[in-house]
Amino acid sequence: MKTIIEPFKIKSVEQIRFTTKEERKKIIENAGYNPFLIRADDVLIDLLTDSGTAAMSSDQWAGIMRGDESYAGAKSFYVFENAVTKITGDKFIIPTHQGRAAEKILFSILGGPGKYFASNTFFDTTRANVEFSGSEAHDFLCEVGKHPEQRAPFKGNMDVDALETFIKKYGKENIPLVVLTVTNNSGGGQPVSMKNIKDVKDVCKKYGIPLFLDACRFAENAYFIKMREEGYADKSVLEIVKEMFSYADGSTMSAKKDALVNIGGWLSLNDEELAMKCRNLLIVTEGFTTYGGLAGRDLEAIAQGLEEVVDEHYLKYRIRSTEYLGEKLIDAGVPIIEPPGGHAIYIDAKRFLPHIKPEEYPGQSIVCGLYIEGGVRTVEIGSVMFGKYDNDGKLIPSVMELVRLAIPRRVYTQSHVDYVSEVVIEVFKNRDKLKGYKIIYEAPMLRHFTAKFVPI
Ligand code: F0G
Repeated sequence: MKTIIEPFKIKSVEQIRFTTKEERKKIIENAGYNPFLIRADDVLIDLLTDSGTAAMSSDQWAGIMRGDESYAGAKSFYVFENAVTKITGDKFIIPTHQGRAAEKILFSILGGPGKYFASNTFFDTTRANVEFSGSEAHDFLCEVGKHPEQRAPFKGNMDVDALETFIKKYGKENIPLVVLTVTNNSGGGQPVSMKNIKDVKDVCKKYGIPLFLDACRFAENAYFIKMREEGYADKSVLEIVKEMFSYADGSTMSAKKDALVNIGGWLSLNDEELAMKCRNLLIVTEGFTTYGGLAGRDLEAIAQGLEEVVDEHYLKYRIRSTEYLGEKLIDAGVPIIEPPGGHAIYIDAKRFLPHIKPEEYPGQSIVCGLYIEGGVRTVEIGSVMFGKYDNDGKLIPSVMELVRLAIPRRVYTQSHVDYVSEVVIEVFKNRDKLKGYKIIYEAPMLRHFTAKFVPI
């Protein structure tokens, strides 16, 4: 088989700035050892997130020029609406400025004290919006999804029996919605099978509870179904996408992922009464119903991105390039969540740094190590992000200590990825020299964004 190449040519380039190791040691120290506080210009390869970091195509840029900026009823809205309806099949399409804006609207209306929501795994902003409304968010990830070292094709699946037990316990009248996150970002970018979507839908139907998709990475999920699930190899990705959405009553979406744009999102649904409530809230918080916090040009770029993301040459390259990085790391003995997910590689920091205990944040230590070694920016997804304190001020660590290397879409080439693997392997070889970290400043909520650290 020949090399799977990037299915595009590069028309416009952006320079990256080189720094020396000595400079990076100073930069990270000045940033309180928190890469969120580094200037992007001081980063060589930025793997902080795959969100809003995609390179747009020339056709998307052409769409930017076509954008109709009329306040109401802009032509671009109808282009966007058609493109979203084509994949979701939903009747009401509400544009929002990003994913969490759709979540805020949906959960403000459906949530509130005494309500309970269930998911395979709620993403942080989704959970935060559920909890902000006064409701509780419960995750029911399948067992194999909780074991980084175990390989399985669909580690993002929901535990359907646990969902049914939960519904019986809390009462269907107190559960306004079940959410399936595809792919499951917090669980390692792992896909959800079509069978699992159907099984979850059957339980929801039995109790009359709507099912929504948190659809950020729907195309990547569909490609995994095509590759791994029996009966889907000969279907087109678009057919698979449509089938996935056909079991759902609606979706929230961050277009910053699989719509290949830098800003945007939507809320789609079929329930007319709920749609009217959502639109009314949209007008208060985001903007009129035909632009929802976006410019007409953004709507055009999303519509075009949705065409491009289901292209199978693109998805083959996308999924392979993540897997390629994963394989290089596995071959060198670096412990990662296996198999590699769609949008990111997750290093298992507990196995990478067994000498650093969770209270000394092994994930943060790797993040700093990668930056100093090669200017590669990554993010800790462990006790810095999810750690809480008990009544005595003792850390309650996160279940997993991970470092995420998220791959922006269509931005880096194979040699960039080779370089990243060399940096990770170099840090891994010298792992005995890495030290733990202590927090010297933290905010009361979402502390990982602004916390400051010192090495121990
Ligand atoms: N749902 C999932 C599964 C996500 O991964 C994200 C964002 C959101 C919802 C919220 O969307 O950022 O447009 O408001 N994830 C980004 C990340 C931030 O880095 O994983 P948003």
